[in-house]
Amino acid sequence: MSVKLGVNIDHVATLRQARRDSNPDTVEAARVALSAGAEMIVMHLRKDRRHVQDSDMERVRREVKCYLHMEMAATEEMEKLAVKLRPDSVCLVPEEKDEVTTQGGLKIKDKSETLSKIIKNLSSKGIGVSLFLDPEPQDIRNAYKLGADTVELCTKAYAESWGKKNQEKELEKLQLASYLVKELNMSLHAGHGLDYYNVRPVAQIEGMECLNIGFSIISRSVFVGLKNAVAGMKSLIS
Ligand code: PXP
Repeated sequence: MSVKLGVNIDHVATLRQARRDSNPDTVEAARVALSAGAEMIVMHLRKDRRHVQDSDMERVRREVKCYLHMEMAATEEMEKLAVKLRPDSVCLVPEEKDEVTTQGGLKIKDKSETLSKIIKNLSSKGIGVSLFLDPEPQDIRNAYKLGADTVELCTKAYAESWGKKNQEKELEKLQLASYLVKELNMSLHAGHGLDYYNVRPVAQIEGMECLNIGFSIISRSVFVGLKNAVAGMKSLIS
């Protein structure tokens, strides 16, 4: 089965916000990514709105025919916005105030009541719910118990181990966690820090259905254009 590519267009908005201008336009970016083979458009509406704005999500939802996946913190504000914006699915992620980017998977134990409420509410409205998790068996079992339909495995530690002694070990953790996700009959996604060099072993994990990739694609697009950058990644994971 071919692995789907979710292209995260947050950093198109980062560039636009540098001038608070209307360009580069996230709607245009979504269309180009889809035309180059992306199966899903991913947008992280952060609490601090440092890149994607509510209007970006509204416009992409309204103007682009696509599968839209929203990354969001598990808060009441975001839950309400997801109900209003109607993405096809959401991924609940931890979000810290001063982080440059997401620092790892959700710690379910600390938040299980909030998560359970949000998962139930969004699922009842036909919105798929994924949890962003480190490759830890207990977190995956808890996600299953809470009713999430998908686990997105955090590949940050694997990406950071690239070329180092622990690379094999980090890949093995992802492989074992993937096996558990499939055994529990949940959908299997992965993402964070994946690039043109480290992506293949993750794409080749048995049962992998979708990879969500942003920074490396948008970075490469500065030199080769977004269409080429997306197509290049797509061909690596197919
Ligand atoms: N998946 C999740 C849950 C994320 O939070 C992010 C970063 O926003 C990504 C995937 C994409 O990560 P990157 O931009 O490093 O490819």
